[in-house]
Amino acid sequence: MGKTLASEPTDAVTQLRSLRDQLDEQRRIAEEKEHQLQRYAADLRDTFVAERERAEELRASYVATVRALTNAVEARDAYTGKHAERVAAYGLELARRIDPRLADNPQTEFGFLLHDVGKVAIPDGVLYKTTDLGDEEQSLMQRHPEIGYEIVRGIEFLGDAAQIVRHHHERWDGAGYPDGLAGEEIPLAARIFAVADALDAMTTDRPYRPGFSFTRARAEIRSGAGTQFDPAVVEQLGALPDETIERIRSEIG
Ligand SMILES: [Fe+2]
Repeated sequence: MGKTLASEPTDAVTQLRSLRDQLDEQRRIAEEKEHQLQRYAADLRDTFVAERERAEELRASYVATVRALTNAVEARDAYTGKHAERVAAYGLELARRIDPRLADNPQTEFGFLLHDVGKVAIPDGVLYKTTDLGDEEQSLMQRHPEIGYEIVRGIEFLGDAAQIVRHHHERWDGAGYPDGLAGEEIPLAARIFAVADALDAMTTDRPYRPGFSFTRARAEIRSGAGTQFDPAVVEQLGALPDETIERIRSEIG
């Protein structure tokens, strides 16, 4: 009995120590795990930053490539100046109001910029002709969307841009080319492009007439809603403030 009494505190102390040791060990393991997790988190952060930088570099080189191609097309046609850049800017403003995801997709801007890339295959005699085109010349000229589509469709990063290039001369009523698509059969970005293109064409000075005011251009385009243009896109053009159009014109020239 005396032995038991004497040994009990010792056992209790031993058990307590053992428990404390176990606790210490568990705390040590938990701390180590936490440090490991922190290291993983830091590694992930570094990887994410590096990936984002790489993606940004890649995007910048895509944009530079598209701009170089666009400039190559427009250099042949001094008359249009920075038409593609302005149309792309108008088109993106409209796209943002209609479907922000479309505006955020870089392929939309690429398609707007490259819409006339097929003109590289149109002979100078037709492209620069100042008088009316004959039937044969007209049909040659009208091949530029298909030619452009053939040029860009194999370039993976351009993706949906190829559809804009192919369908930028379709009309809402189906009387456009090359495929005679009508209404919503025409890709939305191409329907937006058609309105932006008309806005730029009308508001730019031509050798035979000065550019229209924004008000007049809007009215002209409105008269083509439901025939040449998608009425929903025309409505958004009506809501686009003059200041936005003026800002684009002054920034791009
Ligand atoms: Fe065109």
